[in-house]
Amino acid sequence: MCGIVAAVADRNVVPVLLEGLRKLEYRGYDSAGLAVLNGGLHRLRSVGRVAELAAQAEEKKTSGEAGIAHTRWATHGAPSERNAHPHISGGLAVVHNGIIENHEALRQQLQADGYLFTSDTDTEVIAHLVEKKLRTITDLFDAVRAAITDLQGAYALAVMRESDPTRIVVAREGSPLLLGIAEDGHYAASDASALLQVTRNMVYLENGDCAEISRSGLRISRVDGTLVERPVIESQLSADAVELGTYSHYMQKEIFEQPDALANTLEMVGAARSVQPGLFGADAAEVLGGARQVLILACGTSWHAGLVARYWLEAIAGIPCSVEIASEYRYRQSVPDADTLVVTISQSGETADTLAALQHAKSLGMLRTLAICNVPESSLVRETALRFITRAGPEIGVASTKAFTTQLAALYLLTLVIAKLRGKLDAETETRELIALRHVPAAVQRVLDLEPEIKAWAQLFSAKHHALFLGRGRHYPIALEGALKLKEISYIHAEAYPAGELKHGPLALVDKEMPVIAVAPNDTLLEKLKSNLQEVRARGGELFVFADADSEMSDSEGVHVLRLPEHYGALSALLHVVPLQLLSYHVALVKGTDVDKPRNLAKSVTVE
Ligand code: M6R
Repeated sequence: MCGIVAAVADRNVVPVLLEGLRKLEYRGYDSAGLAVLNGGLHRLRSVGRVAELAAQAEEKKTSGEAGIAHTRWATHGAPSERNAHPHISGGLAVVHNGIIENHEALRQQLQADGYLFTSDTDTEVIAHLVEKKLRTITDLFDAVRAAITDLQGAYALAVMRESDPTRIVVAREGSPLLLGIAEDGHYAASDASALLQVTRNMVYLENGDCAEISRSGLRISRVDGTLVERPVIESQLSADAVELGTYSHYMQKEIFEQPDALANTLEMVGAARSVQPGLFGADAAEVLGGARQVLILACGTSWHAGLVARYWLEAIAGIPCSVEIASEYRYRQSVPDADTLVVTISQSGETADTLAALQHAKSLGMLRTLAICNVPESSLVRETALRFITRAGPEIGVASTKAFTTQLAALYLLTLVIAKLRGKLDAETETRELIALRHVPAAVQRVLDLEPEIKAWAQLFSAKHHALFLGRGRHYPIALEGALKLKEISYIHAEAYPAGELKHGPLALVDKEMPVIAVAPNDTLLEKLKSNLQEVRARGGELFVFADADSEMSDSEGVHVLRLPEHYGALSALLHVVPLQLLSYHVALVKGTDVDKPRNLAKSVTVE
């Protein structure tokens, strides 16, 4: 999704802006641009990669000590140079993340005032609006504050002015934005990874904050002008963690990082003999213990993690659980219960729909809230009563992998804690479960060792146009996740079904061109699943079965079986998703798609 970098420093900031944009590339974008002040306003824009923008800057010898830069993921208007940011009005340049919902009404007013629009974007209204305010308000900071009171929607924005080259004004509402403090100047960005090149000292802006940065200082105020202080936080993000190292793609790196990511996430229970509510925050015993039901809200892969957790929470902790897609829940008329534990799951913690769904649940009086999130400084984490930070490390590939398995580890811990608070976990079971959890990183490593066989299977998939994924019970969400991974990065159409549903419709799709992937660990539903697979074979479908050591299935005509090294009981979902990630990755490699930045998608979906 869109990214912002801004800088005012005692140096040529163009290399910093470009490097910042490179660090934000993983979020997904379709065009890029920058503007600098250097005896006038100089703007460069390009459709395509940041590298093309860098080449333009090199060719034109663009430099300046104040500048703003942007990667755009198209929402209003096609990906094109005219729609790329920055947008200009008079001597003013603006970059913006988010969506201005009342842009059409503002556009009409501004056109009536004589402003000419040169793009189809909602952002351009901000440029003209600030310019209009500057006709009556002389100070840029005050003019931006006045302009944003007219905006409805979500934004993080940065504005600079030709006649005032010593400062940049930024503001945030709904989209993330932070400031960086360095010895040579001040910076702003939508993501800390863009600024690690110059500083670790970050100031996270709150919704409703405006700030002004200059070489020598910064000031932050609320929209009404009241000055506020925000803490300076030393970012713990490792600069190395966002480097590719010896891997070919971030997705590959992140799949193989899963044993470490899980070990880090489970570190808190490393030597413990019991699970403690405190893992989820100081008030967790009261918040979790008093809940009568659980409502999980999330999107995409994080929603799949929630679906797996429902099986655990109901079977192990005996607590009713529903799982909703955040973008649906936020607009649905539901029946609230104040004693519901609302669990939001998100890798980024900035997903607009998940944040809005949480706010909606809170507005209905449900205040027992928990965030399971991979980014400690994210908006989501700041808005819940309890939190569990997964320690997957930065996830750059658009396809979520290590975030998913670490979310599952966190959700299993949550299940055990709630089970214990509800008197459903005896000491012996608790010890056994903790031993099983501690072994997960090693078990995942053994699954990763199956890569050569999975790579061979990928060759058989690359010519296919469709695929069907089947699972039962808690492995049905794993089938959903496998299908999402395949379609997301290889563009092969894939659907997932609970295997028992096959004969109620999807069986009609099965013929010899339809590969059917089955998630088949030796659980209580395996025999039922085997019958479903027979239904596929009888129609000529080719089966690819991910079984485990105890599944007692082997290769036969039209049936390919890969056994995971061990059967893992309730935690088998954590293991069985890994070969599906590897399969998608290798199919995408064979097809030559852009693995880390699949077409049309963004890493962090900060707009509705
Ligand atoms: O950051 P979040 O976990 O909230 O993101 C939710 C989805 O956008 C995300 O999981 C998406 O489905 C992934 N690209 C799937 O691989």
